[in-house]
Parts: sequence; C-alpha cells; structure tokens
Amino acid sequence: MASQLVGQPAAVSAIVPYVQMYQAGLSPDSRPAGVFLLLGPSGTGKTKTVEALAAALHGSEKHVLKVDCGEFQLEHEVAKLIGAPPGYLGHRETHPMLSQARVNSVTSEKSSLAIVLFDEIEKAAPSMTRLLLGVLDKGTLRLGDNNTVSFERTLIFMTSNLGAREMITAMEPSFGFQGMGRQENAGEMEGQLEKIGMTAVRRKFAPEFVNRIDAVVTYQPLSQAALGSIVDLQLAELQRHIDARLGLRGFRLRVQEEAKQFLLARGTSAQFGARELKRTIQRQLTQPLAVLVANEELEAGSTVVVEMSEDDSSLMLRPIGEAARRRRPDLRLAS
Ligand SMILES: Nc1ncnc2c1ncn2[C@@H]1O[C@H](COP(=O)(O)OP(=O)(O)OP(=O)(O)O)[C@@H](O)[C@H]1O
Ligand SMILES: [Mg+2]
Repeated sequence: MASQLVGQPAAVSAIVPYVQMYQAGLSPDSRPAGVFLLLGPSGTGKTKTVEALAAALHGSEKHVLKVDCGEFQLEHEVAKLIGAPPGYLGHRETHPMLSQARVNSVTSEKSSLAIVLFDEIEKAAPSMTRLLLGVLDKGTLRLGDNNTVSFERTLIFMTSNLGAREMITAMEPSFGFQGMGRQENAGEMEGQLEKIGMTAVRRKFAPEFVNRIDAVVTYQPLSQAALGSIVDLQLAELQRHIDARLGLRGFRLRVQEEAKQFLLARGTSAQFGARELKRTIQRQLTQPLAVLVANEELEAGSTVVVEMSEDDSSLMLRPIGEAARRRRPDLRLAS
C-alpha cells in the first residue's frame, strides 16, 4: 500500500493497525473492522489510498464496493441503497445496492475483509448519514425486504472535500505559509489543515456520527518531491503497460529530467493536486507514442528518449539505435 501511495504517512499509519487487528482476529464484534473519514484537498490521494489498499489486500484496485454519494442527493435515491419493502410498487425491480452479495463480491481468496467506500459523503442526502449511523454503530444494515447485511467484515471509508477550499486558502503563500510543502512550516501547516477539516466536519455532521469514526485523516498537499515520485510511479506504470500490450514490439522509455518537470508543471496544481497528471501524461506522451507505433516508426526493442524541444514548449520523442536513426528524423510534437 505504502509503495503506491506517496507522501501521506498519516493515512497509512491510521489504517494499517485496523487491518492487522482484523487479520489477527481481534476486531471488535458488532461493528465494522474500521471506519475512516478521509479529508483534504483534491488530488492528494484519498481515493488512491482505498485503491492501493484493495490492491494490497485483494490483488486488484477494483475490489472496492464504491458508493458515489453524489448520486444520492435526494432522499428517494438513498432508498435505492436498501431497496423497497415487499409489496411496494417496483419491489421486484429494486436490487439493493448494499446487499450482502455485493459486499461479499469485493472480498477475495486472499482476504475476507471487504472495502466499502462512500465517496464524497457530504453530497449525500441527510438520510444517508442516518443509514450509515446504524452501520457504524451495530455493523448491520436492514434492507427493504427485511434481510440484514453484515458489515462486521468490512473497512468503511468515507471521503470528503469538506474544508478543502479553506485548506487551499490557508496553503497560499500570502496567508503566511510559504506555499506547498515548505519544510519549516510543514508541521505547523499540518496542524492547521487538520483543524480546518475537523471544524468543517463538526459543522456538517452530528456528534454521534463523528464519534463513531475510528480515524479522521487530513491529507496534506503534496510536496514537489512527492509529486516527483508520483510522476515516476506513473511513468513506470506506462512502461509496464507498453510491455504488457506490445510484448516483443515493445520499447523502452527514457524520460529526461526536464521532460518530467514539464509534465509536473502541466499536470499538477495546488487546486487539483496530482489529479490531472495521468491525463497530461496521456496527452503529451502516450498519444504521440501511439502515433509512432501506429506508423511502425519504432524498432522492436529500441529506446525512446523523451526530452524537451529546443524552445522548451513541448516534449520531443527521439528513438535511438542505429536503425531508428537511419530511418527517420526527430519527431517534433505540438504542445
Ligand atoms: N499521494 C498520492 N500517491 C500516489 N498517487 C497519487 C497521490 N495523490 C494523487 N495521486 C494520483 O492522482 C490521482 C487522483 O488522486 P485521488 O483520486 O486519490 O484524489 P482524491 O484525493 O481522492 O481527490 P478528490 O477529492 O478530487 O476525489 C490518482 O489516481 C493518482 O494517480
Ligand atoms: Mg477522490
């Protein structure tokens, strides 16, 4: 988990003990194995945390039962989670979203611990909080058809952008802190952001709801070093993708430092964190590479150097190796 999630040690150290308690058979009865509220600015790794945990526990990021709370802004939409009672119009057509079968479907041979994610919890109608209150309190949910779903073998994650806007304001240099991640202010800023987050949470949710959360984690803005590691992770992922998809027709990428900086400048910001980085890499690198592959301009087993154009306005792909040099000139990319 820690190898895929960069620079959020508080999240890892809050979550891991609950996983270990479960694995040791020591989780408490009659409640979920762990309940977490993940707060903080966009693109700092909240959803990624849950995906990385699923990959570590079950071998795939997809082993998560995800409820997009933005789809449950109205009371009658929340009812879809538990399904209609028998006899009600439409009863037969309603498959409750939170059935035992769906919870079980995100476990695996590797682990019986299911991960349930309520994404952007603040967007849901108030009845969602009431429904969750029962789940957090007793570890069960009663469905419309009177069946119950057990959440004892689950980790429940809720993410929220509550307080995120105020956090971004607090991070601005003019506010007294020297921008993102300056060392001497890091600890001070961390405390400040936590306070902003908790204030926003207490304003939105009732105390009995907040009290049932095992850990509230406030995600920190990513430092330049952390963003650099994320670029490296995503480039390594792209290389794996090339190897897996192209097999023997594959090639090596060698991305120069200036080119990485270019991707960082285009793909990251205080407002969206690393959220746009994947798309930036796709547009600036993967798509131009695809053109080379489609035009059969790359020798199997060759190396492609990714560097800056002379005027620093775009990336340039330069295949190296004898055959490549003979056959084609450098390819200049539009930005
Ligand atoms: N700490 C991190 N470690 C590794 N990758 C990250 C991290 N933060 C962001 N990323 C990258 O950025 C993408 C977006 O991050 P993620 O979806 O976790 O953001 P979020 O905090 O959930 O934001 P939002 O509040 O907008 O939902 C991820 O898919 C991942 O590629
Ligand atoms: Mg998210």
